[in-house]
Amino acid sequence: MARPFLLSPSLLSSDYGRLAEELAALEAAGLKWVHWDVMDGAFVPNITLGAPIIGALRGRSKLFFDVHLMVEEPARYVADFARAGADLICVHAEATRHLERTCAAVAELGKQVGVALNPATPVDAVRYLLPQLDMVLVMSVNPGFGGQSFIPFAVDKIRELAALRDGLNPRCLIQVDGGCTPENTAELVAAGADCLVSGSAFFKFPPYRERHETFLRAAGAL
Ligand code: DX5
Ligand code: ZN
Repeated sequence: MARPFLLSPSLLSSDYGRLAEELAALEAAGLKWVHWDVMDGAFVPNITLGAPIIGALRGRSKLFFDVHLMVEEPARYVADFARAGADLICVHAEATRHLERTCAAVAELGKQVGVALNPATPVDAVRYLLPQLDMVLVMSVNPGFGGQSFIPFAVDKIRELAALRDGLNPRCLIQVDGGCTPENTAELVAAGADCLVSGSAFFKFPPYRERHETFLRAAGAL
């Protein structure tokens, strides 16, 4: 099954004072996805932004809004993020007591459904849910901060998840988030990743079109 390679730049490393301009620049540079890191100060130490900010910027951008909720009991907020214009809502397995119910609620809201796994969470946490998921996010750092180093065992985890995905739901994307760079892109894609999130290794290296192409070339997609 052909799943095109995607780069989802994480706005966590963008200029928050110029979010509208950053979104426009990504679109002009040929990006299709953008990654919103929502942190609640409880599941992770930091607080970033919420549904009102995403909603305010929705009208300014045609990018696919990939929303990563690093939030305790995200079921409380999925309707808000759906209304704000998220295209995909990704919740953490570790933050969600009734994960199947939360995923079903996101699908019911007409949004794509993702589940994120912290580095120490085994792939088995999504085994039975895979048929109903659009994406699984493999965290390759502990969530909460940009600019951390990639945890090497995430590669084995991607490989294990890809084997499971190929058998149970080939259309489900595997996203990798944390410490992704052009240098490790080829290895991650070979292991089974379809979509890489990049914060610091993307936004610190303008112009965005050239940086996107560097990732695409590393992925063998250009
Ligand atoms: C970490 C976030 C990531 C982060 C990635 O908690 O989920 O999306 O922004 O940043 P880099 O690419 O700098 O590791
Ligand atoms: Zn993220």
